[in-house]
Amino acid sequence: KKRLVLATHNSHKIQEIQQILKEFPLEILTMKDFEDFPEIEEDGDTFEANALKKARVIAQQTGYLALADDSGLMVDALDGRPGVYSARFAGEPTDDTANNQKLLRLLENVPKEKRGAQFVCTIALASPNGKSVAVSGVCPGYIAEHPAGSGGFGYDPLFIPEKFQQSFAGLSAEARNAISHRGRALEKLPAILPDFL
Ligand code: IMP
Repeated sequence: KKRLVLATHNSHKIQEIQQILKEFPLEILTMKDFEDFPEIEEDGDTFEANALKKARVIAQQTGYLALADDSGLMVDALDGRPGVYSARFAGEPTDDTANNQKLLRLLENVPKEKRGAQFVCTIALASPNGKSVAVSGVCPGYIAEHPAGSGGFGYDPLFIPEKFQQSFAGLSAEARNAISHRGRALEKLPAILPDFL
């Protein structure tokens, strides 16, 4: 079995990825299996640059296949911001409530038809011999006027996916995964993985 290292500490993401990869002959490792692995700075201008950087560094340093993701929210009326700065939109350390408040303030007086936005997720796969590829998934929707719902994280209380009346935070995890940017990027993994085995 080949080993594949997931570049995430988030146990929810780990479960979701493991589920999708279970049909492949892979032994899945996570960052928890590597002591004191240095933090990799997400200093790219795009989700793809960040995901590829993380996957490449981890593949090179561990000697195993590596899978990394980067995601965020792009708001039309803000020319695509917060984008790669989604987690630290209102400063560091990450504060979801402050991020949502900042977003609402910047969209004050912006009418519904101009509140379009999309969640984007890019997943990168890299091998220790230098090969790499990235795939992305998008979930279109719009930014609500007020937060609603108690599930999820990040911008979920403000993001209403296309064709829905409820925010991401009001949907079950299953309903969310079926349409989310991350779910859509993960769906593309089985097609690119065989090239790395
Ligand atoms: P990361 O890819 O885990 O670093 O996520 C970047 C940031 O984007 C998060 O801190 C959230 O603010 C935002 N984000 C990404 N995906 C989601 C989502 O599915 N729901 C809500 N916020 C998200």
